[in-house]
Amino acid sequence: MNKRMKSAEYLSNFESMFKCPICNSSMKVFELKSLICLNNHTFDFTKQGYINLTTHMVKTKYSKDLFEARRKLIVEDSFFKPLSAAIAEMINKHATKKEALSLIDMGCGEGSHLSNISDIIRSEYNKITTGVGIDLSKEGILVAAKNYTNKIWAVADLANTPFQDKQFDIILNILSPSNYEEFNRLLKADGLVVKVVPQSGYLKELRAVIFGKPEKQSYSNVDTVERFNENFQLVDSSRLCYTVTLDNPSIQTLVQMTPLSWSSTAGQVTSFLKADSAEITVDLELLIGKK
Ligand SMILES: C[S@@+](CC[C@H](N)C(=O)[O-])C[C@H]1O[C@@H](n2cnc3c(N)ncnc32)[C@H](O)[C@@H]1O
Ligand SMILES: [Zn+2]
Repeated sequence: MNKRMKSAEYLSNFESMFKCPICNSSMKVFELKSLICLNNHTFDFTKQGYINLTTHMVKTKYSKDLFEARRKLIVEDSFFKPLSAAIAEMINKHATKKEALSLIDMGCGEGSHLSNISDIIRSEYNKITTGVGIDLSKEGILVAAKNYTNKIWAVADLANTPFQDKQFDIILNILSPSNYEEFNRLLKADGLVVKVVPQSGYLKELRAVIFGKPEKQSYSNVDTVERFNENFQLVDSSRLCYTVTLDNPSIQTLVQMTPLSWSSTAGQVTSFLKADSAEITVDLELLIGKK
C-alpha cells in the first residue's frame, strides 16, 4: 500500500467526524483515494498523505523553507520541548478521567507540536490519542504529512472547518490565529481549549536586531487574552519563560523560521547571523479554557 492509500485507510476510521466543506453533508472514504460527500463533492488524498479540504486556492506567505526551518528547530534543537511538556501536563491535569482523547491542532503549521504533545500524553499519561492537524498553508501540511504518520493532516481554514459539531476533547491553538465561534462548535461539552500566545520576552534577542527601536520590540497580548476570557471560562493558565542556546547553524534556522524576518532587511541581521552562539528567550502564556 502506498502512503496515499495508508492515509486514506487510517482516515476511514474517523470519516464520521468530517462534513463537506461545500454542502455540509457527511463524507466517506472512496476506494482509498478520495473523501466524497453525499452530493459527490470529491477531495483526493495527495501522494504525501494529506487531504486538501479548502474550497478555494489560498496562497499564504509561509513557505516550505519556513516550515522546514521551524521543524528543524523544534525537533533538533528542542526549542519548544518545555512547551510540549507543559501542555501535555495541563491536558492530563484537566482531563484526568478520560482514557482516550481526540485532539485537533488549529493552525498546526508543520505538525511537530501536535506530534510531540500526543507522544507525551501517550507515553507519560497512558492515554490513547487521535490527532488532527489543520492549517491553511499547504506547505505546512505537506511537511507535517511527510514526517508524521498516524495523524490526519488537512489543508483547511480554521474559521470554517470541515468537521461535524462537538468532535474534539482538546483544541490546540499555538501561536496561530483563533476563531472562537468555530472552536466552540467543534469542542465537546466537556472539552478544553489550549491557546498559546507570545509574551513580552518572546524571541526578544531576535526582535532587538530586526526592529532596533525599542517600542517595536515587545509583544502586547492583553487584547488576545481578554478575548479568550470573553469566550471561554479560564480553568488554568501558566507563563512559561526559558532560554535556549543556539549554535550558529541554528541561529540561521531561527531567522528563517519566523515571520519576524519578513520585515527585516538583510543588513540588520547580518551580525546576528555571524554569531557563534546565542541565548534565545522563549516567553509564552498558556491559556486553558472550557465552555
Ligand atoms: C506562527 S505560525 C504557527 C504554526 C504552529 N502552530 C507552530 O507554532 O509552529 C501561524 C500558522 O497559522 C496558520 N494560519 C493562519 N491563518 C489560518 C487560518 N485561517 N486557518 C488555518 N491556519 C491558519 C498559518 O498558515 C501558520 O501556519
Ligand atoms: Zn458536498
